[in-house]
Amino acid sequence: MLSQILPALRGIMAENGTLPRLVKTDLAGDEPIIAIPDGCNDILTALRQQMPARARRVTITGLGAYAADTAPTAGRAAGKIAAVTGAAQGFGFEIAEDLARQGAWVALADINAEGVRSAAAKVNAACGREAAIGVAVNVADAASLKQAFAQVVETFGGLDLLVANAGVLRAGSVKTISEKDIDFVTAVNYKGYFLSVQAAAPIMAIQRRAAPGALFDIIQINSKSGLTGSNKNGAYAGSKFGGIGLTQSFAMELIEDGIKVNSICPGNFYDGPLWSDPEKGLFRQYLDSGKVPGAKTFDDVKRFYESKVPMRRGCATQDVMKAVYYLMEQQYETGQAVPVTGGQVMLA
Ligand SMILES: NC(=O)c1ccc[n+]([C@@H]2O[C@H](COP(=O)([O-])OP(=O)(O)OC[C@H]3O[C@@H](n4cnc5c(N)ncnc54)[C@H](O)[C@@H]3O)[C@@H](O)[C@H]2O)c1
Repeated sequence: MLSQILPALRGIMAENGTLPRLVKTDLAGDEPIIAIPDGCNDILTALRQQMPARARRVTITGLGAYAADTAPTAGRAAGKIAAVTGAAQGFGFEIAEDLARQGAWVALADINAEGVRSAAAKVNAACGREAAIGVAVNVADAASLKQAFAQVVETFGGLDLLVANAGVLRAGSVKTISEKDIDFVTAVNYKGYFLSVQAAAPIMAIQRRAAPGALFDIIQINSKSGLTGSNKNGAYAGSKFGGIGLTQSFAMELIEDGIKVNSICPGNFYDGPLWSDPEKGLFRQYLDSGKVPGAKTFDDVKRFYESKVPMRRGCATQDVMKAVYYLMEQQYETGQAVPVTGGQVMLA
């Protein structure tokens, strides 16, 4: 219920198309009291009937008092409530950090519960305000997602942006890769994206019903391997191609709820732990397996992959953020897969 009541409330409280953050607050005693009966099947109407016009604080029986926080933050994501999955490290962490710097309230969600809490603390330290929380989630598990998004709503009141970033890679030839590895990659990258949207979209949908005309974003961090095949990496590429099918399908269906759905397809992110981790990273794996002929160092492996890119460098989070803000600001596009590959993948 909470996951629908608070988003509906912030929609009702929208001013000039902007939905406020909702903050749990102490009872002052003079705020309006609203009671939503158990099993109520039209929460929005019940709220509208009981909410005095322009009220900024309210007590909801059984849930406590909530206040609209409209204190402005500055930046390209000012005042937005965002959730980023897979945010304990890598792209997800840096995306969350940038969103917070640009004025968003951000839930960093990750299966690494310990890691994501300290990642959120780092974001708060970097942006100088309590902008972020860390939330434990397994995106391959619907019940875990439901719990995680309930926590996001309880903390911030709703959701304007989901960055579905959690992803895993198990490279391997179709001739030898194990069924276990195929299932693992598919569960996180494909089903995990599906379930994340299933959990996030109803929150956005009720906000839209309460604030007609408002638009929200789901952005999947896909890969260049979602646009073109990846040698001896079929499980990963297949899961990412599938993700684009989901993006296109969800975009068609969810626009009626004011939700734009797009994917961003980055090239290789050499500075992130997926490549650079000294023990488990891809530089180490490719060096040890002799995948790059003649390579003797991490730099040799890196140069080999950079030489495939017209712009001769890897992808950085700042490159991805330009696409994130473009998609958020663009009011007339949905269902797209935006390459950020330095020209390595070119669309027809
Ligand atoms: N690194 C690259 O070169 C690259 C290039 C293109 C696209 N991508 C994509 O970007 C995304 C992030 O990649 P990265 O390099 O930052 O990876 P990473 O391995 O550094 O981080 C991934 C994060 O996802 C989390 N995670 C894994 N399984 C999860 C689950 N079931 N539920 C919740 N969280 C889970 C991990 O704990 C980790 O914190 C992925 O979707 C990846 O496919 C990466």
